[in-house]
Amino acid sequence: MIMKVQHECLFLLTCCMILMFDSIVGDECRRPMGLQSGAVRDAQLSARCIATSPLYAWAFQARLNNASSEATSGAWVACDANRTGLFLQVDFLKVRNVSGLMTQGQNGMYTASYQLVYSMDGQRWSMYQDEDATTKVFDGNTDDVGTVTQYFDQGPITARYIRILPLTYGGGNFALRLEILGCAWCDADSPCIAPAVCEDLVDDYECHCTPDCMQGKNCQLDYCGTGTMPSSEYQPSSTEIMTTAAKSCASGLQPWERALIVIFTICPLAALAVVLTFLTQRYLRLQYQMTTVYGRPVSPQPSIISYDVSKVIKSGYLQSYDVSRSRANQA
Ligand SMILES: *[C@@H]1O[C@H](CO)[C@@H](O)[C@H](O)[C@H]1NC(C)=O
Ligand SMILES: *[C@@H]1O[C@H](CO)[C@@H](O)[C@H](O)[C@H]1NC(C)=O
Ligand SMILES: *[C@@H]1O[C@H](CO)[C@@H](O)[C@H](O)[C@H]1NC(C)=O
Repeated sequence: MIMKVQHECLFLLTCCMILMFDSIVGDECRRPMGLQSGAVRDAQLSARCIATSPLYAWAFQARLNNASSEATSGAWVACDANRTGLFLQVDFLKVRNVSGLMTQGQNGMYTASYQLVYSMDGQRWSMYQDEDATTKVFDGNTDDVGTVTQYFDQGPITARYIRILPLTYGGGNFALRLEILGCAWCDADSPCIAPAVCEDLVDDYECHCTPDCMQGKNCQLDYCGTGTMPSSEYQPSSTEIMTTAAKSCASGLQPWERALIVIFTICPLAALAVVLTFLTQRYLRLQYQMTTVYGRPVSPQPSIISYDVSKVIKSGYLQSYDVSRSRANQA
């Protein structure tokens, strides 16, 4: 029983720490999705259409912080800024949650504004819209070096394909380097414990445990070599609990679990704040009462700092009477 309680405390503590860390870091599904890192492969980037002189400005160069040189344009540049139907496309190969994007220009050129369409299947496209259902026009860059980050006001969109439709440009043509921000269940920090295989579902994930004797949502329970399959008496180790907590926190808690964590972390903090406020007020009142007895200032001032707060709590307000009496005793 005590073990169990310990485990649960451990779980809650881990969750709290993770949630606090999450809120500090602000990881609301805003991780770079791999354009800069190269996790998104060259073949996943495409465009209509590219500049071919002075250099080929391939779509796959449209990666945040890519560098230009004599041999490479280091960005996607449109074939002709006046051509209609221009786009730069990213295919994530899997459905992703996308929450924003970062853009840069290159070589004196930049994309000053753009629209965004997205799709699950590459056939039917949705235009990203403002709250009032008008097509959103994103502010892009104002020079060829700065990075402009745009988050989607209405939270992440779920899509496999993202297309940037450039609208206005500076420096003679559209140039674009890009990072997409978002999240997926099975990205770099997969919730499944290796060597389980993680599969992204639209709003969940599934771990295919290998070998089969690993079990649990994240394949966190290791029965391999024990010769026994899970029984209700099975007590996972603290490390397992921590890992499971970390993984399940990271992969999203049930609303009631969040509520519990709020109750167990925010509420004690709030209670502490209330108690502190209360104590401070009492202490201030005490100070006030000790410096004035029956409304008249006491002279010389008694040394208030020497009163410790615990006495004050026990005895409630120190009565003006007490003060004057103790002063009388001293005299
Ligand atoms: C620019 O992008 C190309 C194409 O993906 C890549 O090979 C190259 O390493 C990138 N350069 C930098 C500086 O990121
Ligand atoms: C695009 O059109 C504008 C105005 O019609 C023109 O001034 C500009 O030279 C054209 N740009 C290109 C690259 O053809
Ligand atoms: C992706 O979006 C869906 C729908 O908004 C949401 O239910 C799910 O939790 C999101 N997934 C991640 C990994 O944030």
